[in-house]
Amino acid sequence: ASLGGLALAVPRGQTGEMVPSRVPLPRPFRVPLPIPAVARPVRTDAATDYYEIVQRAADQEILPGVRTRVLGYDGTFPGPTLVTRSGRRAVVTHRNDLPGPVAVHLHGGHTPADSDGYPTDLIQPGGRRDYTYPTRQRAATLWYHDHRMDFTGPQVYRGLAGFHLVTDDEQDALGLPSGERDVPLMISDRSFDEDGSFSYPASHHGAGVDDAHMEGVLGDVVLVNGAPWPVLEVAAVRYRLRLLNASNARRYRLGMDPARTPLVQIASDGGLLEKPIEHSTVLLAPGERCELVVDFAAFPPGTEITLRNSLGSGGTADVMRFRVTGRGRDNSRIPPQLSRIEPLSAERAVRTRTWTFRRSPTGEHPGWLLDGRAFDPERIDADVRLGEIEVWRFTSDLYHPVHVHLDPFQVLSRRGDGPGPHDQGWKDTVDLAPSESVDVAVRFTDYPGRYLLHCHNLEHEDMAMMAAFRTT
Ligand code: C2O
Ligand code: CU
Repeated sequence: ASLGGLALAVPRGQTGEMVPSRVPLPRPFRVPLPIPAVARPVRTDAATDYYEIVQRAADQEILPGVRTRVLGYDGTFPGPTLVTRSGRRAVVTHRNDLPGPVAVHLHGGHTPADSDGYPTDLIQPGGRRDYTYPTRQRAATLWYHDHRMDFTGPQVYRGLAGFHLVTDDEQDALGLPSGERDVPLMISDRSFDEDGSFSYPASHHGAGVDDAHMEGVLGDVVLVNGAPWPVLEVAAVRYRLRLLNASNARRYRLGMDPARTPLVQIASDGGLLEKPIEHSTVLLAPGERCELVVDFAAFPPGTEITLRNSLGSGGTADVMRFRVTGRGRDNSRIPPQLSRIEPLSAERAVRTRTWTFRRSPTGEHPGWLLDGRAFDPERIDADVRLGEIEVWRFTSDLYHPVHVHLDPFQVLSRRGDGPGPHDQGWKDTVDLAPSESVDVAVRFTDYPGRYLLHCHNLEHEDMAMMAAFRTT
């Protein structure tokens, strides 16, 4: 990394470039953690719940006393949380009151192609579109965000992201912490300009990011649910924390300080694990989700516990704080068996495909390539049969969080060894480290059509590290 000939330290564990904020930053752990509002259906019938979201610009107080212009679902960042039931159809009508085109993708959704937010399937300013989600999928923490071709990075950075939680009977029966003790945490880093606006280093010639930041945009403020280094008051009981890394490019290694309470992982991208897994820290790449149950029972009232990021430095080493206010009744539990997961074994796979995530070696194309090619929305890069198991082998040059649309996959191996500690369960995004190779097994179960796989570093995605596959 260099800036005007000065060598800068490359941030550890990242592919990306820092953008410094130009406003005074607040002291951490002052702002209460906001919880995004839950969207209510505007209408409901026997099989379907209907929602309406207006995408519009609004001013939001993110840093205390500073106004930031956001592009928001219903004018808020994060957008409203959708909570929908497995087996019930949801139709979400998005109206675009923003100055530019948008596309909405439900990340982790098992979604028909015409509602999947293909990057050229745009809602023009003043337009609207119905997105239909049959929700034939198990409970999981999904999220929705913009997916406009070449502009996903800047549009998500300016606020177009929200939670979409799918619930089901299996999960309800477990007795996990619920209600106010089930907390969605959208983690994203941002930087701010002098005037309080989000400081996205946009290119002046069309597409997403300027040349100096094509490795990925890293901010110096960590926001959780849109608030800088917030604090949440908790009782000395168990909480379910639904972590989402909604950052453009930043990876996190998260742990509690003091580390006296284990992080018990119960779910990943695609919902419940078979059994809980204890971690001392969890690694989260852009796009990934990890659900934890954390028990604050060991801490006397008044204790402060900080969620820290050991891949960060300065402000990005802190994420948020929990303050234990008092004792509480707790009849939640973590069952030793959470769910059953059918293993997709490599022996049943009909073929192995390799997908290479590398920078353009020639400089002919300025960005990031998938299998040596820049994304072309008109080109189909692979044909896949519904119902067949395939092994997909992802290889990388730098850090690339690889995301596949339509159906989740299972990690089979990493660098020839078994799956890593954060690879368990159904995944839709997998973290690739430099020069790494990861094998996953995938099976697309229904919906014929055109879908995407891409790097979820949003600058890499905008710089064309994306491919289209067709299911039939
Ligand atoms: Cu979360 Cu294709 O993206
Ligand atoms: Cu990438």
